[in-house]
Amino acid sequence: MRVLLPAETIQARVRELGSEIDRDYPDGVHLIAILKGACFFLADLARAVTRPAKIDFIGISSYGKGKTSSGEVKLTKDLDLSIEGADVLIVEDIIDSGITLNYLVHVLDQRRPRSLRIAALLDKPSRRLRPVEAAYVGFVIPDEFVVGYGLDFAEMFRNVPDVCVLEESQA
Ligand code: IMP
Ligand code: MG
Repeated sequence: MRVLLPAETIQARVRELGSEIDRDYPDGVHLIAILKGACFFLADLARAVTRPAKIDFIGISSYGKGKTSSGEVKLTKDLDLSIEGADVLIVEDIIDSGITLNYLVHVLDQRRPRSLRIAALLDKPSRRLRPVEAAYVGFVIPDEFVVGYGLDFAEMFRNVPDVCVLEESQA
């Protein structure tokens, strides 16, 4: 594994994003993290935000055990809280094909939030198949498979504090 983004670099960027969110949501924000990858990002981002923040989780799966999308999206866990009239920020680990977020935005829009935006730690724009607009992006990265800071390969490496490129020989 090759370190792409050291933990300190991630933490500094997350604090910057928190300040931007503070500025943009003076009345508070309703954070929704996509399980499981975004949990670490959510935990740090929520603490970087000083405005009142509600937290909820949604489970969506579009990936099997491998590195490529199955193309099929399914809701594996719904929200606990209503988002009607709320200023919602979806918190995601990485935007790859865009299939997951494109689907989720469509689903959540129907629940009539006051606003609905996306914060993604990582973005691989070269991989996009469906349009997704993220209001906050931590890092734009090249088309390489990454693990750590929540991101997994076959459920492994989520607890690695750095974001690392998983070299081919490992996978
Ligand atoms: P999308 O629907 O193709 O945009 O995929 C988004 C999801 O795919 C993310 O939430 C991740 O779970 C997973 N994913 C995409 N790229 C990577 C990667 O490089 N490493 C680990 N997981 C990834
Ligand atoms: Mg994910």
